[in-house]
Amino acid sequence: MHGGPPLRMALLEGNLVRTYHIWTVGCQMNKADSERLGRELAGLGYHETDQMGKADVIVINSCSVRQNAENRVASRLGILRALKRDKPDCLIALMGCMVGQDQGELRRRFPHVDLFLPPQAFDALLDRLSEQQDAPAVDTSRADGSAVSRFVNIMHGCDNFCTYCIVPYRRGRERSRSIDEILCEVEGLVARGAKEIVFLGQNVDSYGKTLPGKPDLADLLRETNAVPGLLRIRFLTSHPRDMSTRLIQAVADLDKVCEYINLPVQAGDDEVLKAMRRGYYVDEYRALVRRIRAAMPEVGLTTDVIVGFPGERPEQFESTRALLEELRFDAVHVAVYSPRPGTIAARMVDDVPPEEKDRRLQVVERLQQTISMERHQELVGRTMEILVERQTGGKWEGRTRGNKLAFFRFDGDCLGQLVSVRITSASAWSLQGATDETNVFQPTSVPVRNVS
Ligand code: SAM
Ligand code: SF4
Ligand code: F3S
Repeated sequence: MHGGPPLRMALLEGNLVRTYHIWTVGCQMNKADSERLGRELAGLGYHETDQMGKADVIVINSCSVRQNAENRVASRLGILRALKRDKPDCLIALMGCMVGQDQGELRRRFPHVDLFLPPQAFDALLDRLSEQQDAPAVDTSRADGSAVSRFVNIMHGCDNFCTYCIVPYRRGRERSRSIDEILCEVEGLVARGAKEIVFLGQNVDSYGKTLPGKPDLADLLRETNAVPGLLRIRFLTSHPRDMSTRLIQAVADLDKVCEYINLPVQAGDDEVLKAMRRGYYVDEYRALVRRIRAAMPEVGLTTDVIVGFPGERPEQFESTRALLEELRFDAVHVAVYSPRPGTIAARMVDDVPPEEKDRRLQVVERLQQTISMERHQELVGRTMEILVERQTGGKWEGRTRGNKLAFFRFDGDCLGQLVSVRITSASAWSLQGATDETNVFQPTSVPVRNVS
């Protein structure tokens, strides 16, 4: 007898099948790690459940980038304390960037956690589960999902040591994966239904430096562009100091590589950039944006900004605000500076008062909301290529090549397809559109060029 849906439901309801729940905070890297762990757990016969209280294995994949993120993890672990008391057999693991070399304090604060796993180091969990392997063999083919867009780590760690950032201390030194290994993973994901691959690294522009022959990201993109069945390729995150003309050219030339670049500026003042140890001047950043936009006039360009860095004076913040107004990004991820123990900036005086940090945050958010709205409004009336990723609330949801979220109605099934959508209205966050009755689909192997 096969484990079809009715049997699977019965097994789940009767709790004969072992289940896992992964709760994730942080960046796409963490999401990618959670997806990979999910695939491994499925391989051991575990089923995913969205009900944390019912799971046999609970993994909290944590982030340390700001105090806020750590607080959210701590409160989630607080909830689990009672759960562990009621259900001592459930296994709780804390994974990710909160788990550093010294785990003594974490062990004291969270005694109900069974395992502490540094970022990506989840073998200890898999070993523990394999040892107690009495889970029934179940159909795991669905557990891998058939998501249209998948993350692939192309490198680990970071060597930059920006003064405010905890990442290099938690994710270690920079290491690139080989092109062959990455292509093998990409081909496997495409075979399982993926249409878009998002390459991840803390500084993708330095991809390949640790590899023999020193290939670069442009080489990797060129090879990936030739993978049959794949429709789109994206990459995150770029570093303004390391972005090469060769890479810009590759993005402009390769048909599957989307014209979308996340280029964190962090601040619009040279003195602050120096204190952050970012390695570029504001004018160099401006020139880089000019070159990118000259090569790809409709590129989707986003940035990250930190407000209230130690010593940031009002006029220095004003330079940041003015730069954002001048460069008109498609989106800005803005955060209040949060001192991270162990980093260089944590030894500086955190002298911008919390209310002033918050004011600066709101100034940026309000400005960017207006800019995003205006940029989106410019697209109304245009027909754009959308890769459909899911159905939500009766509408299909996908993204433009420039990474803008778009929603539209369509009666058939267009999941995973490139659809021509006429934009009918826009907000600061997303686009709404309609399909053209006479010309619903673009041929999927020939993506439309020169669209935002
Ligand atoms: N590697 C990327 C880069 O160079 O920007 C992303 C690193 S980090 C995981 C993502 C964003 O978090 C950064 O761009 C920065 O704006 C923000 N961030 C990092 N450390 C921070 C801190 N201590 N306080 C506030 N924001 C921080
Ligand atoms: Fe952190 Fe800087 Fe590395 Fe980005 S480049 S992860 S901000 S140290
Ligand atoms: Fe990402 Fe947070 Fe770690 S942003 S790299 S999960 S500290």
